[in-house]
Amino acid sequence: MPTLDVNTHTLNLNKVPKIVGTEQKAKLALLYMMLEENDVPLYLTGDSGSGKTALGQRLAKEWSQRNSVPAYYVKVSQDDTKTSLMLGFQLVDGSTKLVDGLLAKAARQKAFVFIDELTHSTTDLILSLNAFDGAESVITVGEESIDATGMKIIYGSNLSSHAGNIRLPQSFANRVLPIPFDYPNAADEYEISMEVIRKSLVVHRLMPVVDSRGNKVVRDGVEVKEYKNVQTPLRVPEPVIKYIVSLIRDLRGSKEIDMGSYPLSVRNVSKTILYLNTMARIARPKGVDDYFTKGSNQESTRRRINKRILDRDVDDSSALTTGPAADFIGFVSTIGVEQFRNAVLSGLNYYSDTEGYDIGEQAIKQQLYASVV
Ligand SMILES: Nc1ncnc2c1ncn2[C@@H]1O[C@H](COP(=O)(O)OP(=O)(O)O)[C@@H](O)[C@H]1O
Ligand SMILES: [Mg+2]
Repeated sequence: MPTLDVNTHTLNLNKVPKIVGTEQKAKLALLYMMLEENDVPLYLTGDSGSGKTALGQRLAKEWSQRNSVPAYYVKVSQDDTKTSLMLGFQLVDGSTKLVDGLLAKAARQKAFVFIDELTHSTTDLILSLNAFDGAESVITVGEESIDATGMKIIYGSNLSSHAGNIRLPQSFANRVLPIPFDYPNAADEYEISMEVIRKSLVVHRLMPVVDSRGNKVVRDGVEVKEYKNVQTPLRVPEPVIKYIVSLIRDLRGSKEIDMGSYPLSVRNVSKTILYLNTMARIARPKGVDDYFTKGSNQESTRRRINKRILDRDVDDSSALTTGPAADFIGFVSTIGVEQFRNAVLSGLNYYSDTEGYDIGEQAIKQQLYASVV
């Protein structure tokens, strides 16, 4: 049987992120046990940025390593069909042949497959996945049928309330075990944010090769270079990162406006911090900005800052001249209050003309603008 090998979709196990945060780690362990106990496909579903892809890939990695089977990862789209993904007749060297797609190959290997962004595909494609039905799994096309039991398949998708996602056919929904994903608790969200920021502050850059004595290697009169991952230093202090995490949590929980179709997550924390990090590189220390010491709103502004950073109310105003709140105020003063606001709004997609929140856009934008500092 020829295999269509244009794109192997093999999951690069070295690139799978490690899972941090107590709740997510516990969830990972639980889902792994489910995989050990039955062959019903898991369906990871929930808000954008809640960790579905990270957790699913981690499951794939652990299953693959402990069971010595291949792991595949595929993000499906409207261009994918049953023929390309599963099994079907295709033109090979001028004649029509039955060709294994990724899922047929995986079924023969008893491999692990993670199909992500499922609801970005089509109802037809999702219906064809009814073939994976726990102990009854079988792939059929015409005369050909492949036993797919023992193969592991999991799915991931955002909610259909997020733009660009279709809803599931009921017959499919009845064949999978839905695993809801929610945003993490505050401590976990901070820890995950730090992990995402650290991962994002890396550039793949052409660097000179050095020998064991630290000298640049030269060959034929030319400096030898190779691509390396270079870590950018984090210049944004911890209280500022805590503040951004807390701001996003406040906005998400807002009672005044419906942020439901405007998903804010660790991705937005990370984008904000990347922006601030480069600004911090060029900024020169300045005294505390008048914004925090003069003006009519300074009391409530300072109280809000403390609440966000320390997660409790502070009456003592000396708490603002030392400790985390002072670090925050010092950093924002250095960057400049307006520039700080710009960086945060950029990280929150305020300036992008984004689909999905046409209703209430003005209210959301006002709320975003007003809550930064
Ligand atoms: N528990 C976790 N530990 C480490 N990183 C995580 C965790 N949860 C999410 N992430 C990271 O956060 C970002 C968003 O998560 P992702 O899995 O892509 O969300 P989703 O698939 O639900 O939209 C990714 O960079 C991901 O690696
Ligand atoms: Mg995802």
